Amino acid sequence: MLNINQSAEIIFTPELLTKFGEIVNRYPEGKQKSALLPILHLVQAEYGWTSVPAMDKVAVYLGLQPIEVYEVATFYTMYFLKPTGRYMLEVCRTGPCCLVGAEKIMQYLEQKLGVKEGEITPDGMFSWRGVECLAACGFGPVLQIGPEYTFHENLTESKIDELIDTLKLTTAKTPVDSIS
Ligand code: FES
Repeated sequence: MLNINQSAEIIFTPELLTKFGEIVNRYPEGKQKSALLPILHLVQAEYGWTSVPAMDKVAVYLGLQPIEVYEVATFYTMYFLKPTGRYMLEVCRTGPCCLVGAEKIMQYLEQKLGVKEGEITPDGMFSWRGVECLAACGFGPVLQIGPEYTFHENLTESKIDELIDTLKLTTAKTPVDSIS
């Protein structure tokens, strides 16, 4: 469901608009809607999530109706419709991974991070959620970590501990605010 409780005005930077223009120019005249998916990815990378005001601005930029942007953003789960932590831990929750412990991994994440699925840890660093098949069904349980989408297979609780420790360490060396 769209989170409509945001009012911050979105002003795309000249750098972002340049990137938008490069994408739009890949397509024939009048086919600018084809640029919608990659432009939404750029917007999410810039703001951390895909808010309604940002989608509205994208609609204006591409000459679309806002609903045309919403229906795309709500269809693809890689667009976050509400704020997330700096790192989004996505656990495959499809059948084959569940057979080898994906649900226990999600329970462990909830317990370790102290937040429920989709919530943000108080330090702003982590969110987690279950997602559908990540196409590594023979190596479950499987996890990917955004925004870089690093991939981790054959998960165990101790592997989760290591991953989270590494991310905390990396972020301690590189403050969150300085990560683009
Ligand atoms: Fe988990 Fe396919 S079922 S990666």
